[in-house]
Amino acid sequence: MKYGFIGLGNMTTAIIKGMCNSGDFDSSYIYGYNRTKSKTTKLATSYGIQATTSIEELMTKCDVIILGVKPQMLPDVLPEVKKHLQEKHMIVSIAAGKNLNYFHGYLSESTPIIRVMPNINALIGASTSCYTANEQVTETQLRLITMLFETIGTIIEVPEHLFSIFTTIGGASPAFTYMYIDALARAAVREGMPKNMALDIAANAVLGSAKMILQSKEHPWALVDQVCSPGGTTIQGVSSLQSNHFETTIHDAVAAVTDKDRSLSK
Ligand SMILES: NC(=O)c1ccc[n+]([C@@H]2O[C@H](COP(=O)([O-])OP(=O)(O)OC[C@H]3O[C@@H](n4cnc5c(N)ncnc54)[C@H](OP(=O)(O)O)[C@@H]3O)[C@@H](O)[C@H]2O)c1
Repeated sequence: MKYGFIGLGNMTTAIIKGMCNSGDFDSSYIYGYNRTKSKTTKLATSYGIQATTSIEELMTKCDVIILGVKPQMLPDVLPEVKKHLQEKHMIVSIAAGKNLNYFHGYLSESTPIIRVMPNINALIGASTSCYTANEQVTETQLRLITMLFETIGTIIEVPEHLFSIFTTIGGASPAFTYMYIDALARAAVREGMPKNMALDIAANAVLGSAKMILQSKEHPWALVDQVCSPGGTTIQGVSSLQSNHFETTIHDAVAAVTDKDRSLSK
C-alpha cells in the first residue's frame, strides 16, 4: 500500500514524521506533493519520502490519498483528484468543516472516503484524533487508517453528526488549554515566580489532573470536592471561578468553534 500526501504543511508533516518514526511504515512507500516545491524537497531529505511534482503523478503511484490542504483550497485540488481517481484509491481528508457529502459532491459516492480530525499535539505523538467513514470503506481499510493515525496519538470513531463537536473539544481545545496553562503561569509571575518555572508547574499540574480524570474514573466534581477542604484555600478559588462565569465562558467558546465548523460545510 502506498500513501500519497497532497499538501505538506504543519499537520501532514506531523503525520509523516509519526509514520516514519513509528517503524510501522516504510518511507519509500510514502509520497508527497506540495504547491511550493521546496517543502516537498525538505521532507524528502528529512524523512526519505518520495517527492512528486503533480497530483497526477502522486495518484498514479499511490493507493491512499491524504488531502492535507486548507479547507478553502479543496475546490482547487478536488477536480484534479477526481480526474485521476482510480478504483484502487481511498481518500482521507483531515480538513476541518468539510463533511462526507461535500466530498461526494466533488468525487463520487462509490469512492471510499474517510474524514479524520487530528489535533496539533500530533507534533509530539499525542494527538486525540477521530474518524468517520462512508459505506465504501472496508474494515481492512479502516484498520489501516487507524494504524496510521495511531502513530501520532490516539484515534476513535465518531458518528458524523458529532464531528463538529469533536473538532471543538478534540481539535480546538488544545488552544484553550494552552491559554489556561499560560494564564495560571502569568498569575504566578504576578506573585513573583519566574515564568519558565511557573509554566512547567502549571503544565505538569494540568497533565496530572487530566491523568487523574482518566485513571480514577471519578466525576470531576467529586475530585474538586476532594481538593476543597472546608474553610480552606482552594474553595476560595473555585468560588471565584464560578462567580466569574468560568463554565459559561467555556460553553460560549465551544459553541463559537462548533458554529464556525458547521458553517464551513455549507
Ligand atoms: N493545524 C492544525 O492544528 C490542524 C488540526 C486539524 C486539522 N487540520 C487540517 O489540516 C489541513 C492542513 O492544515 P495545516 O495547518 O497543516 O495547513 P498548512 O500548514 O497551511 O498546510 C497546507 C499545505 O497545503 C499546500 N497547498 C495549498 N494549496 C495546494 C495545492 N493546490 N496543491 C498542493 N499543495 C497545496 C500549502 O503549500 P504552500 O507551501 O504552497 O502554501 C501548504 O504546505 C487543513 O485542512 C486543516 O483543517 C489542521
